[in-house]
Amino acid sequence: MNRVFLRSAVAVVLMSSALSVGCEKGGSTTPPDPTTAGVQEAPRVAVPEALGDDVGGRLFDRFYGESDLGFEPGKSGGPNGDGTLHDGGGNAMPSEGHDYRLKNLFGWDLRGVDGIYGPEYQAKKTVLPVNLLTDSRSVEALVAWLTNGDDVVPAYGEVMSAEQILSIAEFVDGVRTGALPGPTHVFELSKEAPKNYTLKSGADAERGKQIYADACAGCHGEDARNIAVDGDNSVGLFARTKAYEGWLKVLNGHPGSSMHREITFTSGDEGGQQILDLFAALCDRTLFPSLDGVDDVPDGDLRCGSYLK
Ligand code: HEC
Repeated sequence: MNRVFLRSAVAVVLMSSALSVGCEKGGSTTPPDPTTAGVQEAPRVAVPEALGDDVGGRLFDRFYGESDLGFEPGKSGGPNGDGTLHDGGGNAMPSEGHDYRLKNLFGWDLRGVDGIYGPEYQAKKTVLPVNLLTDSRSVEALVAWLTNGDDVVPAYGEVMSAEQILSIAEFVDGVRTGALPGPTHVFELSKEAPKNYTLKSGADAERGKQIYADACAGCHGEDARNIAVDGDNSVGLFARTKAYEGWLKVLNGHPGSSMHREITFTSGDEGGQQILDLFAALCDRTLFPSLDGVDDVPDGDLRCGSYLK
């Protein structure tokens, strides 16, 4: 379906269900919509592009870290004021285990039980039997589902705006249709490798070094050690040990930080190759060492495989 039409259709659906109505960002010029012009009196719902293409992925990662919602799982905010949400039936749903993060429910690879968090791999208790990459529901249906919740998915509409939820659905749709890079561009699932993944073959590490220099070094430094990330990791060590998570960070940025999508691409395949090239480059332990006093991965580590230097 035509994307522009789809967006306005979703906006109309959202408006008619009287969900939270966002203000349009100052300065954006949206042409009048011929399908709804003259019909609506209510303020327009801001088009999702106003949130930026990479916002949905950061909300998928940790929505309350990305956006100032006054929500802290199990602590504060939300419909009950105590950081809990309800399921689709209106029953209180405790935050335990998943903290309502979509990445905890569906995994960093969006594949639910079929993926990296599934029983055959990292076996996380919070993972749901839904593979978002093979799910064939429309974007509108995904929005309604995430807004209202079901038995196992919280009603995110209680805490996120309609445009935020639409951004998440569009992110999922972008990855599953291949318009955006996805996990399948970057790694394969593995029963043997630590953390249950190996980087895909076919990377050009030399090209990856250039991508790192252009897109990352300005903040993370030439040797990727300027900012300690995720505890006491350098970006190099993070990439050598957690590429199943890192692909999503590179694609969308890190919630609540200055890091957004720093690479540019015109197709999912092109962006996916860039991310793979980048991770292959970061497998060089001499160019991108761990932080002082932190052990690096040993020779032969299967995650970087033949890229490990
Ligand atoms: C505008 C500055 C900036 C740019 C450019 C940038 N980053 Fe970041 N990055 C950050 C900040 C800030 C953090 C968050 C550090 C923290 O608070 O833990 C971060 C976090 C990360 C993390 C850790 C995520 C986690 O789970 O903790 C990784 C991995 C990472 N960046 C890799 C990259 C790569 C690869 C690039 C290039 C494609 C890049 N960054 C570009 C600023 C930047």
